[in-house]
Amino acid sequence: MPDTHNSDFNVTPWEVTGQVDYAKLIKKFGTQPIGDDLKQRLFKDAGESHFAIRRGVYYSHRDLDLALTDFEEGRRFFLYTGRGPSGPMHLGHIIQFYFTSWLQRRFKANVYIPLTDDEVYLSERSPSLDVAQKWAFENSLDIVAAGFDPDHTFIFKDTEYLGRMYKLAIRVAKKINFSTAKAIFGFGGETNIGFLFYPAIQVVPSLFEHSRCLIPCAIDQDPFWRIQRDIAESLGFPKAAALHSKFLPALTGISGKMSASIAETAIYLNDDERTVRSKIVKGAFSGGQATVEEHRRLGGNTEVDVPFQWLYMFFEQSDDRIEQIRQEYSSGKMLSGELKGILIDKVNEFLKEHRARRRRAEGELEKFTGTGELASRMMNSDLT
Ligand code: TYM
Repeated sequence: MPDTHNSDFNVTPWEVTGQVDYAKLIKKFGTQPIGDDLKQRLFKDAGESHFAIRRGVYYSHRDLDLALTDFEEGRRFFLYTGRGPSGPMHLGHIIQFYFTSWLQRRFKANVYIPLTDDEVYLSERSPSLDVAQKWAFENSLDIVAAGFDPDHTFIFKDTEYLGRMYKLAIRVAKKINFSTAKAIFGFGGETNIGFLFYPAIQVVPSLFEHSRCLIPCAIDQDPFWRIQRDIAESLGFPKAAALHSKFLPALTGISGKMSASIAETAIYLNDDERTVRSKIVKGAFSGGQATVEEHRRLGGNTEVDVPFQWLYMFFEQSDDRIEQIRQEYSSGKMLSGELKGILIDKVNEFLKEHRARRRRAEGELEKFTGTGELASRMMNSDLT
């Protein structure tokens, strides 16, 4: 994959390996860093600040400034994000949906969320289509639990909604030639032809409205938006804007993202309290020193310490508290076991609350998939 690969790390929509150099990735993908002025403008328009932007968890963008100009001038953008339902969702996936629901509340935006059961089947991330569809249902409850507005959010399975998307999909597909797809996604002679077509399908929801689409996601999904931006205007739509996050690192170390397919690297939303504890105690990569004496003398390294990184990226949202933890840990006052204890409590508290919201979501799901205002409009609309 010539334009996404180098010898140290590799980021594609289907694989992340090595220690990601996020600054290099901005250059390689041709995106923009989110500077201080843009952050302040986003907070002003949103009416409040958000820790994930303040701390650079979302650190790169495409045309976020244009999306904000649209909003400031009274033209609302809409939001698009998605999930490939290959199994239970992990903590890295869900942070995208909590952030997107915050954007929805602050900008009063419609949100479109596909469950790409076709993608996971074609990419062999799922053993069968039935299994992918089962996970699509399970994942949709977790997504609803992240707090979306039932009248302004449409959640759908690709395999069910494709009939209505198909006209747009072939208009998109006709604009993408094999050389481009090969260069961007690394497709080759062994790639099945369903998968060659899939990028056209992932582009389509960015064309569900004629206003600008803003896509929050981790940076691995950006290759799709590069294609979108090459062709959207020729089809009469604006180029999509995107807001890219870093990856919540694998439990086992900051090289590589938390991966759904390697159980010990991830905490799943359905892991119970004991599993969470044992995964973190036994498996979380620590930036602490080998002995207590050394740790007291030299302090811990927060840059590589996974429990610290998880707290910083999501679980400790108070800036004062995270700075206190950083200070105590790097000075050696706080030991690695104590830091892990803080994370265990935070993760379990989050999961307990998330699961209560998920149970409530069971009674609400229909609104998102068919009966709510936006969903029923989409189920009856002829997309061209
Ligand atoms: P999927 O299911 O691989 O991932 C779902 C979302 O989670 C992000 N993500 C992560 N974020 C933080 N830390 C991690 N360790 C981590 N791992 C994954 C992904 O970037 C994604 O935002 N093809 C997509 C489904 C899709 C989509 C979209 C995603 C369709 N349309 C539009 C985003 C936006 C997929 O398989 O995602």
